[in-house]
Amino acid sequence: MLRTVWCNIARSLMSSKTIDPVRRVHGMIAIPGDKSISHRAAMLAAVADGRSRLLNYSPADDCQRTLACLEALGVAIEQRGAEVSIVGRGLTGWSAPQTMLDAGNSGTTIRLLAGLLAGQRFDSWITGDQSLQRRPMQRIIEPLTQMGAVITARDGRFAPLHIHGGALQPITYHLPVASAQVKSCILLAGLLAAGTTTVVEPVSTRNHTELMLTHFGVPVALSNHAISVSGPARLRACEVRIPGDLSSAAFFIAAALMLPDSMLCISNVGINPTRTGFIDLLRRMGASIELENVRQWHGEPVADLVVRSSHLRPASPNVIGGELIAALIDEIPILAVMATQMEGGLTIREAGELRVKESDRLRALTENLRRMGADVEEFDDGLHIPGPQPLHGAQIDAYGDHRIAMAFAIAGLVARGRTQVDASDVVAVSFPTFFSALEQIAQR
Ligand code: S3P
Repeated sequence: MLRTVWCNIARSLMSSKTIDPVRRVHGMIAIPGDKSISHRAAMLAAVADGRSRLLNYSPADDCQRTLACLEALGVAIEQRGAEVSIVGRGLTGWSAPQTMLDAGNSGTTIRLLAGLLAGQRFDSWITGDQSLQRRPMQRIIEPLTQMGAVITARDGRFAPLHIHGGALQPITYHLPVASAQVKSCILLAGLLAAGTTTVVEPVSTRNHTELMLTHFGVPVALSNHAISVSGPARLRACEVRIPGDLSSAAFFIAAALMLPDSMLCISNVGINPTRTGFIDLLRRMGASIELENVRQWHGEPVADLVVRSSHLRPASPNVIGGELIAALIDEIPILAVMATQMEGGLTIREAGELRVKESDRLRALTENLRRMGADVEEFDDGLHIPGPQPLHGAQIDAYGDHRIAMAFAIAGLVARGRTQVDASDVVAVSFPTFFSALEQIAQR
């Protein structure tokens, strides 16, 4: 017991990062491949016929977990830096895993893979780290059970999951919560079900699965908020070029906007409109974010971003909620930090989903913003952050959450005094080179 406590303290000290304020950020930077798109590319390549080549695959721990799970299912994978070659085994060609599959911290790995595992002719177990074991799985168990899968979960709703795979029936499913992970889980299961599976979304969520399926040769029918696929499908191996991750770029966009005299050029960033809520909102507030050289990589829009320091005016209305939340769900931590520096601050509502992310992000944001001296009001489904208000350096608890660690590292750049982000190595979950990239653009 004592040893565990000591090890935890030692580990958090070892990986704690000290952040001092900087004068500005400046330069050119490339961001690693998009995490959401990388997961999908790897999973679809693993059920395609033939060898696929994925370029700019994300180095994120989450995406490496997906590759490890696929290898455990008998898929041959070679990885050279950001280039990954995957020999697909067809939709039902995987072999039964010999051990429990481990999704680590990755909600996308466990939820999307569950859809494909549900239609296999073998049983599998899948779990994740402590954070993932606390996240809701009922939302995928329910539709997969309707499709005929037999899934047993701890307390009926948490990982580890036992998936008894078998023949699936198509369904039409109205999503009770806006979630691209749940939508994608059902569509992937739909590839294995004979007939048409339809998912109806309450609001649009990221459509990377739809675009990636199309790229692998599977027709996807779209009508308003309904997305349909027909099975059994056949996927054709292909080459996939993965855009830079806008959700990772967001931290540097925020730094460039907040620090005076800053200018950043961020190349090859994915600007899929289902993901650009952060950019769209900030531009409405007067942010100088130019999209240059806009082009498409297999249906995914990509651009070079040029970001300059900007004075942000209050958005009208100064409350965000509704459809916009899905389009900037992963950027809310950094947006909350930015709100402290905005004229008029910001109110975020209808964002209760943040309580079931890698941490309870509304709690983690409130706690850490208060540690930095900010006035914050916490609601069940959001936050009210008055602004502008000064931040002072503080000791930050990342709550084991990569985006909380990165958001408060950026807060440290604009605070007075020194900030310490404990257990900061959690950034590797999505952006292992975050601190070296920050070092590269920071000017003191
Ligand atoms: C993701 C969907 C979102 C997002 C997550 C990645 C995906 O989660 O927050 O980081 O890759 O589909 P939800 O679908 O649970 O909202």
